[in-house]
Amino acid sequence: MKNFRLLMGVAISLLVVAGIVLIGLTPKVDAEYADITINKQAEKQGMQPVMFPHWFHRIRFKCKVCHEDIFIMKKGSNDINMSSIIKGNHCGKCHNGKIAWAPLQCGRCHSVGGNPDGLLTTAPAAPK
Ligand code: HEC
Ligand code: HEC
Ligand code: HEC
Repeated sequence: MKNFRLLMGVAISLLVVAGIVLIGLTPKVDAEYADITINKQAEKQGMQPVMFPHWFHRIRFKCKVCHEDIFIMKKGSNDINMSSIIKGNHCGKCHNGKIAWAPLQCGRCHSVGGNPDGLLTTAPAAPK
């Protein structure tokens, strides 16, 4: 038991060090390799553009799951909107609260920009 705790302690320290090294080496960018920004409508409608983590999805699903039944394989060629998502099309084929989380937290997808809530600009602060 004592040895186990010691081992865990060492393992955790190593992980922390590795984490710090990794953070140090990672270039400071918001997007990851092969992320796709989707912004045909979002900004025009007051939302931050959508960052679609392509790689994240590619390692979890075969290409054929999405291409071309759900998405045409060309950046900017899909007309996606929230009613289609909520009806269970496009991202909503999976982001429906069953296969993946439901599209309730806007900022999880509308993440290109500084606002965690996904809105393009925060409303002016209420007068005090
Ligand atoms: C699963 C990811 C996802 C989530 C979560 C999400 N959206 Fe979207 N949304 C998209 C995508 C993708 C588009 C299409 C973007 C484009 O082409 O510009 C979009 C487009 C939009 C648009 C413009 C088109 C339209 O339907 O009018 C608005 C407005 C919008 N979203 C609002 C919201 C709000 C508000 C929330 C939170 C309640 C939200 N979205 C949550 C993915 C998402
Ligand atoms: C979860 C769904 C999903 C999966 C799985 C997926 N893609 Fe995609 N792919 C997308 C979306 C969404 C876009 C962006 C479409 C847009 O911008 O309208 C895209 C775009 C693309 C593009 C166009 C990029 C560009 O710059 O024009 C290529 C090429 C592509 N995917 C190849 C693949 C390959 C190869 C695989 C499998 C290894 C794959 N995709 C798996 C959803 C997916
Ligand atoms: C084929 C199913 C599928 C489709 C289609 C799909 N997703 Fe996902 N997505 C997933 C799954 C599964 C996860 C992981 C959910 C979890 O961890 O609980 C995920 C996670 C994510 C994440 C979080 C990634 C992270 O780093 O944690 C984002 C952002 C996201 N999806 C955006 C989108 C957007 C935007 C679209 C549409 C353009 C989309 N997804 C379409 C299945 C899908």
